[in-house]
Order: sequence, then structure tokens, then C-alpha cells
Amino acid sequence: MSDEARVVRIVPNGPVMVQGPVRIEMPDGTVVESDRFMCAICTCRRSKIYPLCDTSHRRRQRAKDDESSTTVTVQAPAEA
Ligand code: FES
Repeated sequence: MSDEARVVRIVPNGPVMVQGPVRIEMPDGTVVESDRFMCAICTCRRSKIYPLCDTSHRRRQRAKDDESSTTVTVQAPAEA
């Protein structure tokens, strides 16, 4: 593990920015992974790719090509 503290930045009325890659474990057991250098975690719950931010928190959407830059891997929960 690195000695450097991981940077987490809260964007007012927006996502929480976390240095990637990240592995997000959801309450239902699914896992969402992103290998991006900086990952935006949705806090508004309007994202179509929740728990990752798709900029839906903004009043106006950016062009569709913004959504294609995120690499997301979702894993089903492990069987007990
Ligand atoms: S914080 Fe960006 S879509 Fe929710």
C-alpha cells in the first residue's frame, strides 16, 4: 500500500472525485470497477450508470461522447 494519502474531492452539487482505479461494493453485493485515473462517484442518484456519475446532476447534459470515455466492469455478487 502506498504511503501517500488517496485524494478524495467533493464537488459542490456534484460527484465525489476519487483517485482511481476504484472498486465499489454495492449494498446488494454487486461490484462496480473503474480503471479511470480519476473516478466520479454519483451522490445525486440520477446517474444512469450509478454509482458512477454521468453528469446527470447538471441542469444541461454534455454531448453523448462524454459517456463513452468511462470503462466500467460490473460483477455479479458471489454465490454463498
Ligand atoms: S453526481 Fe453526477 S450524476 Fe449524480
